[in-house]
Amino acid sequence: MCYAIPGKIIEIKGDIAVVDYFGEHRNALNKFLNAKIGEYVYAQGGILIDKLPESEALEILTIWKERFFELKKKDKEYSQLDNSVLNNSVILQHHPPSLSQHNSQPHSQSDSQYHSQPILEILQKVNLNKELTKNELLALLRSKNKDELNLIYTTANNIRQKEHDNACCVHGIIEFSNYCRNNCFYCGIRKEAHLNHIERYRMSSEEIISAAKHAVKELGFKALVFQSGEDEWFSEEKLVSLVKDLSRLNILIFISIGLRTKETYKKLYDAGAKAVLLRFETSNKKLFENLRPSTRFDERIQMIKELKQMGYIVATGFLIGLPDETDDDIINNLLLTKELKADMYSFGPFIPAENTPLENKRSVDKDTVLKAIAISRFVDRDSNILVTTALETLDKDARTQALLAGANSLMINVTPNEFKKKYAIYKRNYGAQKDIKKEIIETINMLYSLGRAPMDINFYLHK
Ligand code: 5AD
Ligand code: SF4
Repeated sequence: MCYAIPGKIIEIKGDIAVVDYFGEHRNALNKFLNAKIGEYVYAQGGILIDKLPESEALEILTIWKERFFELKKKDKEYSQLDNSVLNNSVILQHHPPSLSQHNSQPHSQSDSQYHSQPILEILQKVNLNKELTKNELLALLRSKNKDELNLIYTTANNIRQKEHDNACCVHGIIEFSNYCRNNCFYCGIRKEAHLNHIERYRMSSEEIISAAKHAVKELGFKALVFQSGEDEWFSEEKLVSLVKDLSRLNILIFISIGLRTKETYKKLYDAGAKAVLLRFETSNKKLFENLRPSTRFDERIQMIKELKQMGYIVATGFLIGLPDETDDDIINNLLLTKELKADMYSFGPFIPAENTPLENKRSVDKDTVLKAIAISRFVDRDSNILVTTALETLDKDARTQALLAGANSLMINVTPNEFKKKYAIYKRNYGAQKDIKKEIIETINMLYSLGRAPMDINFYLHK
């Protein structure tokens, strides 16, 4: 199984290589691989990460050739907008005011002032590539009418297809330590959770490398996220040496280890980590500081900005549905993600975790998350939007629905089973621990059924 299609370098322009995939050309950063014209390569996140021999590449490409075009065709069909409903500028330009009358669906939420503008009209503005006002974004978020929701999701999926074609990246994640020095109220592995008998673990460097090797060589991943709580046992020195070892696997290394000093992050970048996952959690400073005692909102935002400046591919985002969060907060979260120039949007539902101060709170409903995905696609059309594992926890089919609402990236948990169940950030439903290979095959088949191809999606070069 392979989650990246090899391409052939046809041109070099400074640090950028132009890579050909069955006649389609994409740019990728060649700074770290130094590949030459004519060589076959793998790219992840818009960075060339590995070369492969021509014979091997041609073998893989033969398998992919027919499927590549078939999948594209299928995705295009599935992401078409119904012309008669909205589609394009012509309708809006010729009959702007009367359109609202065509929208026979009554608004389900007449209690909100934001519903004065019909959803259809807002979506037409989206289709004309016009910037939406905050009130319009709120109206989309507050829509509850089933037909309107379908239209919102289809419009987002249509933009996703236009911007990214059928590419969907599939990353693996390895959760290597559940120790954390922080006490976030929402998190099941918070420091004080030890009082409630959470079983802590730390994978050794050897265990992490061996799990990563397995994910790359046996399971076929080309990009892996290495995640932990803020665990100071992993000193700068240990992390740098770990990343150096992992970089020999020629993959895109994402680190998700919380706040560290700028110097540490710089050393990790130089050691081979080229991507980072660091959410700001919420744009509401007061909520942030209430729910994350002794951490500071400004410091976190500053760190995210600095990581971006250092050259990292930055995945960031927030939780949806934290207690006391308002619709305004959700829209502000999306706008802040955009403002931070996130290469990847990573947000998911808050799911109450046992033995935390928020254990009795409710989780957010799935549609709110799907709407947030669609709205992200509207405010940042070429963004990369991840379907997070927490969303899958909410509902088995949510992953597919999210991909049909504008998302274009997935993550599969490849943490060894003995550790996976201890990384209890929130209450997860593992059922009978699934065989990882089976789960991967199911995921890939799901992607194929939607016409998506697991391949590079150029985060790096898009901002
Ligand atoms: N529900 C969903 N996501 C959570 N996280 C922490 N606790 C929860 C929860 N209860 C998320 C945070 C963090 C990421 C690693 O896990 O957003 O950034
Ligand atoms: Fe630690 Fe992150 Fe959990 Fe906060 S959310 S307690 S920083 S692992």
